[in-house]
Amino acid sequence: MPRNAGHFCFTVLTIALKVRRGMRMIMLVSMPLSAPHKPSPAPGVTQRAKAHITVTAAGDDSLITAAKKLARELSLPWVAAGETGADLQLVLTPEHLELRDGHDPRLGPVYVDFSHLDLRPYGANLSRRQPLARAMGKKNRTVVDATAGYCQDALLLALMGFRVTAIERSPVVAALAQDGLQRLATQAGLTLAQRLQLLTADARGLLPSIAPRPDAIYLDPMFPPKRKKSAAVKKEMRLLRVLVGDDPDATELFEISRRVALNRVVVKRPDDAAPLAPDPSMSIAGKLVRYDVYLSRNP
Ligand SMILES: C[S@@+](CC[C@H](N)C(=O)[O-])C[C@H]1O[C@@H](n2cnc3c(N)ncnc32)[C@H](O)[C@@H]1O
Repeated sequence: MPRNAGHFCFTVLTIALKVRRGMRMIMLVSMPLSAPHKPSPAPGVTQRAKAHITVTAAGDDSLITAAKKLARELSLPWVAAGETGADLQLVLTPEHLELRDGHDPRLGPVYVDFSHLDLRPYGANLSRRQPLARAMGKKNRTVVDATAGYCQDALLLALMGFRVTAIERSPVVAALAQDGLQRLATQAGLTLAQRLQLLTADARGLLPSIAPRPDAIYLDPMFPPKRKKSAAVKKEMRLLRVLVGDDPDATELFEISRRVALNRVVVKRPDDAAPLAPDPSMSIAGKLVRYDVYLSRNP
């Protein structure tokens, strides 16, 4: 994990996407950065993706020390600045932790940045009338986001008032998210209370042991690229795909989620994609996406 933290939650796609979702609110979630529940099967990256990733620092001795620590935590090789050859490079700069494409330096870095979020209370993005909030249901309080990614959705849910446990199996993705979260907390002076917790683990193994069982489980597995995307989204998604692969086990995760969630499982899909599983109880349309809701049969 970057710098001092364990694992975190937060989200945000890319530098270019950082402003898209205006978050409002002042409350900030806290991120008890908890230790991995289960050791990750592969160092720094999931078993589904086999990218060669190195860690380096672009800065002074203290940054180099922090980056070496991060490399040890992620079990990734440390390299001196300027050394090339990796598919991806995690670079600790004075500003943030960033991911660089090792083969195409023209692509800008990807990092998690929440600094432009609108945190004012009652903002549109945090309204419980948003499709995401409506999909989670009025009465549900506790949510596990079992495909946390950069935690963008997990953060929104937490800011909307849900108590969120976010699970991400790629330690590298989690490290990038944590870095963004920490900066937001520092810059905005936010105390992220007990609303958001990020764990690094494969949710398929972790979900059955979560107690108490969550009211709802939220899933946003990787899916095929949409027809039209901005260059920034393409870059961010491309690097994420290199990191985590295609989530071919999403159906298995869904089945486990259905057994664990007390009230519902919500699956985010592109608006033009088939449901992850047949016969959702209802679907709520969002902008370019759809939330398929599967009510629990036996809570
Ligand atoms: C499309 S991204 C999620 C984006 C996220 N909703 C956000 O707001 O940033 C999917 C993520 O789910 C993670 N993932 C997929 N299956 C998982 C599992 N079984 N356990 C934990 N994480 C998983 C992948 O590693 C990837 O980072």
